[in-house]
Amino acid sequence: NGSAAKAGKSRNILEKLQETGKNCVVFYGSQTGTAEDYASRLAKEGSSRFGLKTMTADLEDYDYENLDQWPEDCLAVFVLATYGEGEPTDNAVEFYEFMGGEDVSFSEKGGPDGEPLGSLKYVAFGLGNNTYEHYNSMVRNVSKYLDRLGAKRIGEAGEGDDGAGTMEEDFLAWKEPMWIALADTMNLEEREAVYEPVFEVTEKPDLSAEDNTVYLGEPNKNHLEGASKGPYNAHNPYIAPISESTEIFKDAERNCLHLEVDISESNLSYTTGDHIAVWPTNAGREVDRFLDVLNMQDKRGTVITVKGLDATAKVPFPSPTTYEAAIRYHMEICAPVSRQMVDSLAQFAPNEEIKNEMSTIGKDKDIFAEKVASKRVNIAQFLESFGQKWDNIPFSFFIEGIHKLQPRYYSISSSSLAQKKKISITAVVTSDRSEGNPSHVVKGVTTNYLLALKEKQHGAEKPDPHGLEYALTGPRNKYDGIHVPVHVRHSNFKLPSDPAKPIIMVGPGTGVAPFRGFVQERAEQLKKGETVGKTLLFFGCRKEKEDFIYREQWEQWGSELGDAFELVTAFSRDGANKVYVQHRLKERADEINKLLEQKAYLYVCGDAANMAREVNDVVSTIISEKRGVSKQKGEEIVKGMRAANQYQEDVWS
Ligand code: FAD
Ligand code: 2AM
Repeated sequence: NGSAAKAGKSRNILEKLQETGKNCVVFYGSQTGTAEDYASRLAKEGSSRFGLKTMTADLEDYDYENLDQWPEDCLAVFVLATYGEGEPTDNAVEFYEFMGGEDVSFSEKGGPDGEPLGSLKYVAFGLGNNTYEHYNSMVRNVSKYLDRLGAKRIGEAGEGDDGAGTMEEDFLAWKEPMWIALADTMNLEEREAVYEPVFEVTEKPDLSAEDNTVYLGEPNKNHLEGASKGPYNAHNPYIAPISESTEIFKDAERNCLHLEVDISESNLSYTTGDHIAVWPTNAGREVDRFLDVLNMQDKRGTVITVKGLDATAKVPFPSPTTYEAAIRYHMEICAPVSRQMVDSLAQFAPNEEIKNEMSTIGKDKDIFAEKVASKRVNIAQFLESFGQKWDNIPFSFFIEGIHKLQPRYYSISSSSLAQKKKISITAVVTSDRSEGNPSHVVKGVTTNYLLALKEKQHGAEKPDPHGLEYALTGPRNKYDGIHVPVHVRHSNFKLPSDPAKPIIMVGPGTGVAPFRGFVQERAEQLKKGETVGKTLLFFGCRKEKEDFIYREQWEQWGSELGDAFELVTAFSRDGANKVYVQHRLKERADEINKLLEQKAYLYVCGDAANMAREVNDVVSTIISEKRGVSKQKGEEIVKGMRAANQYQEDVWS
């Protein structure tokens, strides 16, 4: 159960509406925070433009048996992300199972027969990725369930596509006609939107940052002070010591890290194929840039309290805190600035000219694309470009408007059988140079944080670009050494329970991460006297001498596994033509088909956008050609394999 239950709060949404005088709830099913962010934006816009009394609600915080008693004059909004293979996000599982149940039973029977939700008016938006087969299945299914129960949808259910990279524009394009339809149905009057803060931020000059009650951004303060024992999860990370960190390759553009985190002092556990989430901190230079453009440099350490101005506003970090801690540990300040953000920042512009320019950019998709998105700037870089300080933006505006800094997931690259209490991560450090402006480098937050930790561990002499001092050595830190906040997310990407079953793994680049764990596990199983089946790994990288990762380990485990193990490589830039893993699969069509007929499991990991789809196509072609069936039949067979978990993917974009 969710945070409301833990805090002993009521799980009755109708009571909550009544208590708080709200008439619009924006429910969110969110995994990485984007749906939650969209929900907050809708709630805010509903209140500032249409005078709705809005609140947001985490789906896992409420029960739904009484939805049939929904008040006629209230609106429900559902913002629902679809995760992985058409799955609900963790916080939406219970809601989804309840609503989709064959025989949904409500506590009382409202509405006429067959329409228990007859009084429920709702709007819906889904976040999905069209590179996955079950595109936006959450919003599609939930709308279907609600409609079946008699609820009335207003406007179209929107669908945002992360795969095409158009999520934000899909959202903006959906929301305008939705508001018009809503205003019409609910008789709402549109008014000039005025900024109304959701939070009250009060400076406390008499409180020092050294004071024990002041939260300095530690992701898990109790833990650092030795008071917490877990459970460690998406609300509460474990501050894990990094026991090993190495750079497994480095070239002009990229480098790749192998890290091992030690969980032996915690009650965390994992199984091979799970994911580990890393909680990053923003780079010091970006925190400085942000403070600087807002003319807040000399206030960085000022202690503030943050309070919700109404009972439903959740302060997203503990208070009292400092401006700097809130920015460094809690706000996604490095992400590309959004068009809606530009539009709403216009009202705080230092002069009329800038205000008009901002409004023009913020209101026009094409101008925004040309002048802002193509430059790949974050919010502070964008504000800086006007050459002025922006010193009249209320801090509450950022707490509400900037996405919460999110943990990033990594496919665990070790085997829990071989190393139960050490989790390894294989991460490629992202630093993209922008086309046309090579001096503008976009650095991934988490991977550069991990790189800085690695450099620190190895006693780097150059100045610490990430500004890790506090995180590592601050006054409250009871540890020596290098640590990283993490939690584990269990996944369905799993080896067959019988090690004798053959497996085929396809993982180019860092997509090989979980397969390092799989191969390590099979070598361990063999050591323990089990029979291990064919273990065939397809790995691709650019050049044999450049980014061929874990070569020695493949050799070592290969020698232990003998004939059972085989590594097939595809070096894409060593020869005249590009060779990819799927080309190698094709070359071995006979063997692949035979193994699949023997019920081999097939695993694909890495790039969701192209590679995973192309591998899927090649496998269905192999099946159709080798079994003499139509292309369509080949595709159906692959679908059947997916449904039976014989074909598993762990992909990301
Ligand atoms: P972020 O800060 O999140 O940035 C990511 C990208 O966004 C940048 O490279 C850039 O292209 C773009 N971007 C950022 N800021 C801007 C800006 N201002 N303007 C324009 N564009 C911008 N990765 C691995 O390396 N190994 C793994 O094993 C692995 N496993 C994963 C498993 C799962 C289930 C998932 C979902 C992802 C996995 N990933 C893995 C990816 C990983 O989670 C991160 O997405 C990745 O490491 C980048 O994180 P970051 O914080 O460094 O970059
Ligand atoms: P490339 O960058 O030379 O095109 C790991 O990133 C490896 O995956 C690299 O060798 C990369 O090749 C390759 N790769 C790029 N696109 C791919 C695709 N669509 N399918 C399979 N491999 C791909």
